[in-house]
Amino acid sequence: METATPTTRKKTVFSGIQPSGTSTLGNYIGALRNFKLLEDEFQCLYCVVDMHAITVRQEASKLRQRCLELAAIYIASGLDPKKNIIYCQSHVPAHAELSWILNCYTYMGELSRMTQFKDKSAKHQDNINAGLFTYPALMAADILLFQTDLVPIGADQKQHLELTRDIAQRFNNVHGNVFTVPEGYFGKVGSRVMSLQEPERKMSKSDPEDTFINLLDPPDVIRRKIKRAVTDSDGEIRFDTENKPGVSNLLSIIAALEYRSIEDITAELSGKGYGALKDRVTDCVIQTLEPLQTEHKKLMADKPYLHSILDENAEKASMLASRTLSKVRRKVGFAEHGK
Ligand code: TYM
Repeated sequence: METATPTTRKKTVFSGIQPSGTSTLGNYIGALRNFKLLEDEFQCLYCVVDMHAITVRQEASKLRQRCLELAAIYIASGLDPKKNIIYCQSHVPAHAELSWILNCYTYMGELSRMTQFKDKSAKHQDNINAGLFTYPALMAADILLFQTDLVPIGADQKQHLELTRDIAQRFNNVHGNVFTVPEGYFGKVGSRVMSLQEPERKMSKSDPEDTFINLLDPPDVIRRKIKRAVTDSDGEIRFDTENKPGVSNLLSIIAALEYRSIEDITAELSGKGYGALKDRVTDCVIQTLEPLQTEHKKLMADKPYLHSILDENAEKASMLASRTLSKVRRKVGFAEHGK
């Protein structure tokens, strides 16, 4: 007699990147390169979070282009679009619907403690809109919509993930076990890549050009930016984030990209000068980005292909989302329809 083998559901991974500019080496090291590591073991959804991007003013034609560009970056980084659900957030209205419901389970006090809100509202004082404030409820919806187990992100998104967990638990306490409470996934090294010019601050695409490496920067630009990276005057290659933030940042970039320990890299370079360190970082970054850039160029030359991937995957994401959403609708007491 045949015995039924229990089918175990693959656990779910969800993450997103904003198409608000071309992605940086920080996005790559903190998030993107980890996405690939998870694609076999998990059911992964990687989203182009365009709805998040409009919390800051965007030029429509540029945003449209960047959404495609980011989808191409996901694929060019090695993610298989047949295995991973790569799609645009705005193509799946369930994100907006769950976000509204979760807004009603999120407190003003919690939202006003978010450091990203504080930073962004200081940067865009003429446009402190409600969307910027309630942004974490949309991020919680992104994650909870798919019963996500694991969220690969950089350290700067930890606070938003903590809030997502709180919202999930609060909802579950009222309505029973509706949402999976997600965990973060952080790389051993590189979950906070720092600015090349102000290494006490996070590398960010909204800062001036020479402070970050754009994933599509040509090799000569990468070389120039790293050459000008701020270090210090003591001349010793040593990892010490407090006293030597610039040098430490460069060491962590190599360690992260080569999946080696900081100790290993420091030992390799000890006794050498900062010129040698910078050459080493430059070679390592160019070597990592060149294949990605070549593939990206090919993909961008075939927009119909990119659109077909996004359409197909938005449909898959919608189907998965509708399971959670119909449960949530019932739990909060919305009247049934279409019966
Ligand atoms: P975003 O678009 O700012 O960044 C995308 C990812 O890159 C990471 N990251 C960094 N990691 C290391 N060093 C840096 N300098 C650096 N800069 C950015 C971020 O931590 C992030 O993982 N709110 C999110 C997008 C989002 C999301 C989600 C993420 C929306 N919904 C659901 C995960 C799950 C954001 O603004 O990321």
